[in-house]
Amino acid sequence: MHTINHLTELREQVREWHHQGLEVGLVPTMGSLHDGHLALVREARARSDRVVVSVFVNPLQFGEGEDYDGYPRTLDEDCRKLLPLSVDAVFAPSVNEVYPDGVGITTRVQVAGLSDILCGEFRPGHFAGVATVVAKLFNMVAPDLAVFGKKDYQQLTVIRRMVRDLNFPVQVIGVDTVREADGLARSSRNAYLQPAERETAAEIHATLRQAADWLQAGEWEIEALEQWGRERLDRKGFRTDYFSIRRQADLGRPDAGDRALVILTAARLGAARLIDNLEVRLNGGG
Ligand code: PAJ
Repeated sequence: MHTINHLTELREQVREWHHQGLEVGLVPTMGSLHDGHLALVREARARSDRVVVSVFVNPLQFGEGEDYDGYPRTLDEDCRKLLPLSVDAVFAPSVNEVYPDGVGITTRVQVAGLSDILCGEFRPGHFAGVATVVAKLFNMVAPDLAVFGKKDYQQLTVIRRMVRDLNFPVQVIGVDTVREADGLARSSRNAYLQPAERETAAEIHATLRQAADWLQAGEWEIEALEQWGRERLDRKGFRTDYFSIRRQADLGRPDAGDRALVILTAARLGAARLIDNLEVRLNGGG
């Protein structure tokens, strides 16, 4: 495994692999790697001949007052975790390498509509920052496939849409969320939680689970369940941004016949903003 900091070296390496007929899988990350990231790497390893993990804290996707400066940067430790997973290259570019003209670049990828709802409402510009850097990574690495986590469900939906709309020749794979024993989704931002908050944080998954059960039992109206979820989290001490039931395919509001749903939530606790979701498949119908 070698660490590549420069685009020219990366391109040379990938060109050589492609020349040999090898398929290249990319796992984009912002580092501070945990078991969730490692599950994506294993998936990429199983599906491709060569695996590139990118580690880049992307300034473009952080809003003003968000945690860009404080975001944990632990490249040496990240590389140690990747070593046993037979990763071929870690691409860890500087901000200048990715944005040589500064982050004020005028070309941005805007996945309209999808970027403005749910988290997009609370983090204006966030998904344009994500879509832009992922488009750049796809152009830099030229992977055959790329692996993302369902933990960031809206992000995955935005990226799938971008790939379709802009004809990126990249197969996008989504991997199930990796959780702690009490159900809390693994996240680099869990490190911001104080011990008592860490206990409370498990309520997010418990609330999603309960809402999913009720939804499946067909006992509740969608809007009543959304309100129940938000109120329960607020009561437990969260400041809930949203608790919303959507269609899996496009995150639109479900119609009567929709069976493949997802419950998504974002809630603030102490210094952390936590997001999570749960897919629900309703029985009956087609
Ligand atoms: P980051 O938060 O580092 O996450 C990198 C990838 O790991 C994402 O695809 C995310 O969904 C996945 N992931 C995080 N926690 C997970 C968990 N508990 N289970 C499964 N997968 C998990 O997401 C980003 O970085 C950035 O926005 C990025 C796509 C790299 C663009 O900058």
